[in-house]
Amino acid sequence: MPLIIKKTSDIKSSEITPKSVYLDRRRFMKQVFASSLLVGADAMLPAWAKRWPDLPQSAFKADDKLTSLEDITSYNNFYELGTSKTDPAKNASLFNPNPWSIAVEGECNKPGVFNLEDFIKPYALQEYIYRLRCVEGWSMVVPWVGFSLADMLKKFEPNSKAKYVEFTTLLDKSRLPGQSRRVLNWPYVEGLRIDEAMNPLPIMAVGLYGDVLPNQNGAPIRLVVPWKYGFKSIKSIVKIRFVETMPNTTWNELAPKEYGFYSNVNPEVDHPRWSQSTERRIGEPFWKPKIKTEMFNGYGEQVAQLYTGMDLRKYF
Ligand code: MTE
Repeated sequence: MPLIIKKTSDIKSSEITPKSVYLDRRRFMKQVFASSLLVGADAMLPAWAKRWPDLPQSAFKADDKLTSLEDITSYNNFYELGTSKTDPAKNASLFNPNPWSIAVEGECNKPGVFNLEDFIKPYALQEYIYRLRCVEGWSMVVPWVGFSLADMLKKFEPNSKAKYVEFTTLLDKSRLPGQSRRVLNWPYVEGLRIDEAMNPLPIMAVGLYGDVLPNQNGAPIRLVVPWKYGFKSIKSIVKIRFVETMPNTTWNELAPKEYGFYSNVNPEVDHPRWSQSTERRIGEPFWKPKIKTEMFNGYGEQVAQLYTGMDLRKYF
């Protein structure tokens, strides 16, 4: 997908345009965005109409150099679109993420089924620059467009039995043809403990680099949990369920000794087949030394307290 990257101006449009005009423009952008999701992935809209050029930055943001849009969109894990790193980009056009709806179920007072437009409408989008560390030993720095997972979950009023949150990817082999092969137990399922989900860091992402989420990165909406290995950041979500018991997650079911439920980035606990102490930053020249992986991917200040008293070798 050819995308043009423009630099965000230092002067916000809100500062140079009368407020009423500015608000109208934002409303129009939202309408265009919503309709682009409804009419099709490659709606014939001008590029600017699908962009969020002046989003505020989130409070927590990695200062690392951003990974290029090309690398973020061409080196992917999305088994529903193929198992090699280049498959998802190659097969991205086979996946039509429109129309899209999300069901919220389980232990909450306000369950429901929502079309994507209604689902995301209540939230103010922000740019979140987060490190993504894959369990395979590579990492990226991605400028996501999204909103707080906690803010979203609270809207549905989880009750006292909601101890975990389970997320499920679309199950439809006509749209995600990789599901014709039984490489994983489809649909892809992930989960978080409720206090992890309510931490301010995790987001629901709907875009990156100021544009809608490319299909290969989990269009139209995905989870991003920056202190956990990348596979927790489930793509193309259609169901969110509040549950009392720990969800059975896809990778944990497939290989429980290799992929724990928690899967916090932890350089001291190796994967049975790989060391987790260093990582390769995608896009950096091959001769550059690998980076030392940080505990909780460098987000310890925000999340370490979630695991006080837990043996993280046992609960890996
Ligand atoms: N979600 C689904 N539904 N299917 C997948 O195969 N792969 C995971 C995660 N989410 C995956 C998924 C893995 S292993 C990683 S590392 C990240 O997505 C990669 O996200 P990215 O392609 O945006 O870098």
